[in-house]
Amino acid sequence: MRVSLKTWVVLALAGLTAAAPSVHTVKVKETTRVPRGWTKRDKAPRDLLIDLRIAIPQSNFPALEQHLWEISDPFNERYGAHLSHEEVNELIAPHPESVGAVDAWLAEHGLTEADIARSPAGDWVKVRVPVGKVENMLDATYHVYEHADGSTLVRTTSYGLPEHLHAHVEFIQPTTLFSRFRPNKATFHFSQAVSAAPAEENAPAISVPSASGGSVDASCNTNITVTCLKQLYNAVGYTPLANTGNQVAATGYLEEFASFSDLQLFFKSQVPAAVNSSFNVISINGGLNNQTEPGGEANLDTQFLFGITHPIPATFFTTGGRPPFIPDIGSTENTNEPYLDWLDFILNTPHPPQTISTSYADDEQTVPVNFAQRVCQGFAQLGAKGVSLTFSSGDGGVGDGDPDPATQECITNDGRNKTEFLPLFPPSCPFVTAVGGTIHVPETAVDFSGGGFSNVFDRPLFQAVAVPEFLEKLAPGTFKGLFNPNGRAIPDVAAQADNFLVFIDGEEFHIGGTSAAAPTFAGFVSLLNDARIRAGKSSLGFLNPLIYSIGLVHTGAFNDITTGNNPGCGTEGFNATAGWDPVTGFGTPNFGILKEIVLALP
Ligand SMILES: *[C@@H]1O[C@H](CO)[C@@H](O)[C@H](O)[C@H]1NC(C)=O
Ligand SMILES: *[C@@H]1O[C@H](CO)[C@@H](O)[C@H](O)[C@H]1NC(C)=O
Ligand SMILES: *[C@@H]1O[C@H](CO)[C@@H](O)[C@H](O)[C@H]1NC(C)=O
Ligand SMILES: *[C@@H]1O[C@H](CO)[C@@H](O)[C@H](O)[C@H]1NC(C)=O
Ligand SMILES: *[C@@H]1O[C@H](CO)[C@@H](O)[C@H](O)[C@H]1NC(C)=O
Repeated sequence: MRVSLKTWVVLALAGLTAAAPSVHTVKVKETTRVPRGWTKRDKAPRDLLIDLRIAIPQSNFPALEQHLWEISDPFNERYGAHLSHEEVNELIAPHPESVGAVDAWLAEHGLTEADIARSPAGDWVKVRVPVGKVENMLDATYHVYEHADGSTLVRTTSYGLPEHLHAHVEFIQPTTLFSRFRPNKATFHFSQAVSAAPAEENAPAISVPSASGGSVDASCNTNITVTCLKQLYNAVGYTPLANTGNQVAATGYLEEFASFSDLQLFFKSQVPAAVNSSFNVISINGGLNNQTEPGGEANLDTQFLFGITHPIPATFFTTGGRPPFIPDIGSTENTNEPYLDWLDFILNTPHPPQTISTSYADDEQTVPVNFAQRVCQGFAQLGAKGVSLTFSSGDGGVGDGDPDPATQECITNDGRNKTEFLPLFPPSCPFVTAVGGTIHVPETAVDFSGGGFSNVFDRPLFQAVAVPEFLEKLAPGTFKGLFNPNGRAIPDVAAQADNFLVFIDGEEFHIGGTSAAAPTFAGFVSLLNDARIRAGKSSLGFLNPLIYSIGLVHTGAFNDITTGNNPGCGTEGFNATAGWDPVTGFGTPNFGILKEIVLALP
């Protein structure tokens, strides 16, 4: 029986709390193992503030998902009929009974409406509470955990809730979530500064045929510029408009800041027409964009994405959070999950940018399953509103690319210590487009291109033909036990991922990673949106059903990458093959052909 807030207060005032003992039977809701690399330190200070996020079940998510499949399927008559912010919120609204049960529980702990922040749909509830109180509410014990890389988190390995609440709460975080959403090691690596690179100034200015029929400057083999990408991906001469309502964005986390002055140097060198143009910065949860500390990741993402899409209005989302926790000085900063802060913000935005690129991820196995599912449902909501999301697929091939023996790659975290391939999340979510990497001209798979199969998400329908076709090509028994052949497979597509010429702090560097591939692919998606919106059509929204429909019929819309492989976990990884493969997906985009296809769609 549900006890309404009013009834509860009446009972409590009457001293009759014992009348409803079942309400107080606390049962463990979730436990976790501390992932490798983390060491338990002191108990968390009782006055440390935590932004507790309560995920209330979305009562009708399957209906939202059904809409999403229909409006994203190019063969469906509803293709492109995206839902409004209000329609999405209505579909994901929690059951009133769940909301009531959670509110009553919060009230029992002295938390009233004034202390509570809710998402527009009401499916997320946020309260800021000190550790001491959280421990009491959740029957949990919070400790400081330190990672081998020096980062710290305040977490518990177990928490409980009154038994009657279990059906009304999907999960509460931060509790058991130990993931480190990160750019640097997994999806980003420096090569030498350009000044130290062998001079190629005297190299003859020849060009080589491109896979998309045009020609590509020979220098693009080792020196990727915006011009190279437009040549390679058949978009030379296409100029988007600034004022169609189309927008493009890159996300930034973990104190990765994008420099305006570096952007001008980059534009001067690579996109002269864009000089003096800039991007809008949206700060979430106190995110900064400190101009004296430009970050390689943020500069790469903004320079190339906005270089490709100029003059489409551009936004850099900088999300603060996860401030360094310093136990010695008794820090009372809150300990957030910055990634949820961004999702929270963007889900609350009625008209988000139509294309958003993210180059941050973590090992799927460090993300609690219910958390991964709920975040993935958030991406589905964005897709339903007409937003295309690209994520870099990772830089460790079939592993996580972590060279640190303390965080030994490819070992399962479930207590068995088994060797397994490690896909990354969020790219493993079926509702985002995972972008793998290529290198050189003609293109070949780059060896770090993240690829593989999710252990959390099942194979989505859009992969029902392409992925089994690939699996049938594997020799029987290949990598048996190392991957889940029935999982959502990544990447979906690929783009160049190394030797990107970027300005950082006034100097030119060549940098790479699938961090470069995700904004590159997103750039061409944004140009496709420009073409569609100018033709009076909707944005593309959730891309994968379209990508797989196109990829399967070999229209030349993707340059199929058939050489190279993605080693990891002590194996040679998978091979790039004809058709889809877990190294480069369907391959790299041919903008000219894709544009004709998307303009022919409703
Ligand atoms: C790379 O291309 C840029 C821009 O065209 C040029 O300034 C630079 O010299 C090239 N660097 C190398 C090493 O080829
Ligand atoms: C950029 O702005 C500067 C300073 O206002 C101006 O001198 C320059 O001509 C502008 N360049 C372009 C390409 O608009
Ligand atoms: C920006 O970074 C500089 C250099 O690290 C630092 O001195 C300054 O305090 C920072 N500014 C802000 C607003 O955080
Ligand atoms: C797995 O590895 C952890 C950390 O190295 C160790 O403590 C544990 O005993 C191992 N478990 C098994 C079953 O080998
Ligand atoms: C990749 O291709 C090589 C050369 O054809 C072959 O020997 C190897 O078995 C293939 N690997 C996989 C995983 O299919």
